[in-house]
Amino acid sequence: MGTSAAGFDVQGVNSERIAQRLEELARFGRSEASGGGWFRGFGTEAELRAREWLRDLWHKVLGLEVRMDTAANLWGTMPGREALPALVLGSHHDTVPNGGQFDGALGLVLATEVVQRLVEEGYRLRHPVQVVSFTAEEPNPFQVSTLGSRAAAGVLRVEDVRKAVHIRTGVSLRDALQAAGGDLDRLDRARLDPAGVSAYLECHIEQGKRLWSRGMPLGVVTAITGIYREEVVVEGEANHAGTTLMADRRDALCAAAELVLGFEEAVVRGGGEEIVGTIGQLEVRPNAPNIVPGCVSLILEVRSPDREGTAKVLRAFDECVRRVEAGRRVQVRRVRLLDQEASWMDPAVIGALERAAAELGEPYMLLSSMAGHDATHMARITRAGMLFVPSVGGKSHCPEEESRMEDIAKAGDALLRALLILDEE
Ligand code: GLV
Ligand code: MN
Ligand code: MN
Ligand code: MN
Repeated sequence: MGTSAAGFDVQGVNSERIAQRLEELARFGRSEASGGGWFRGFGTEAELRAREWLRDLWHKVLGLEVRMDTAANLWGTMPGREALPALVLGSHHDTVPNGGQFDGALGLVLATEVVQRLVEEGYRLRHPVQVVSFTAEEPNPFQVSTLGSRAAAGVLRVEDVRKAVHIRTGVSLRDALQAAGGDLDRLDRARLDPAGVSAYLECHIEQGKRLWSRGMPLGVVTAITGIYREEVVVEGEANHAGTTLMADRRDALCAAAELVLGFEEAVVRGGGEEIVGTIGQLEVRPNAPNIVPGCVSLILEVRSPDREGTAKVLRAFDECVRRVEAGRRVQVRRVRLLDQEASWMDPAVIGALERAAAELGEPYMLLSSMAGHDATHMARITRAGMLFVPSVGGKSHCPEEESRMEDIAKAGDALLRALLILDEE
């Protein structure tokens, strides 16, 4: 792979080992029952076992000093030669329900591989290098996504989540976090001191098809989209499905159906290729074939590179809500769950990733991320950057999610090289 300016002749990453580690991590949460996808949602048995696997790998195989913070973020540290702030490589090991093998997992396996290459060479960087797996990156039934990175960035406080419970089981977030090794009452202690971090780098699958459709092996991320999420609760009236005449009904699901379509129209009319909106979760109560649905709760999200895009969609949706409330005699309650601004990646980290790709002779593309990532929060306290690997067919958050080993190996080499470049600054 050549000689870095520090004079260290570092070989590229070991792609067989990367493939093997991806397989090892894929043992946790694979479910034939749900179409062959993975589920390592925060707090599940599979998620806890994946943590154990990572902890052992970092501690026993790589010899890193491993610790868990109060947000249950798992950290591994390789000391540096000098008293400098750390270069951090991270991602997440949880998944969406029936998700794929690479979202989050790839970033951790490549971060691990990069550090292992340094360990094998007996090469210590000037800066300490830290690997991190952030807790609960994905949305979960506790309604708190990117829990770990928000706590690390100091933008999630104990008060925000003190009362959070699993919407189906009623288990408290406090108990779930404790089972993972965290401590909700001391969540504030997970906050990082910005002076202790030099930069944050995350490698991830693109999850869209911009790289794949251009045959581009690498993507360097410039910005991460903003995400707005809210719960919409539609209260109608449960009643007998046989005896309640059509004119007498206050059917919450029919009202919700109008809201779903009205929301889609609001997003489409909101305009802009990079503004998208989804209603991906619906709970119907009581959810029985012979009861007129009395209550429906749905979760909607809007993603937009700027606040005005989100605001425009929400204004159009407000009108739709008023129309549906009046037309169907239902009440609609709305609770904001997330209002996360878009973030910018750091020019110096972007530059290091671009230089790494160029030195490797690999073409790359600069692009924004339309998926959310822990890097969005890390960008608020340090210099952050992301490297994308093409997703075959642009598929993600589904079992078919895939990336090619040849692209993964290139990303591993670029990540290692970018780390060395940042270390030389
Ligand atoms: C995270 O996976 C997201 O929803 O973008
Ligand atoms: Mn995801
Ligand atoms: Mn992810
Ligand atoms: Mn994500």
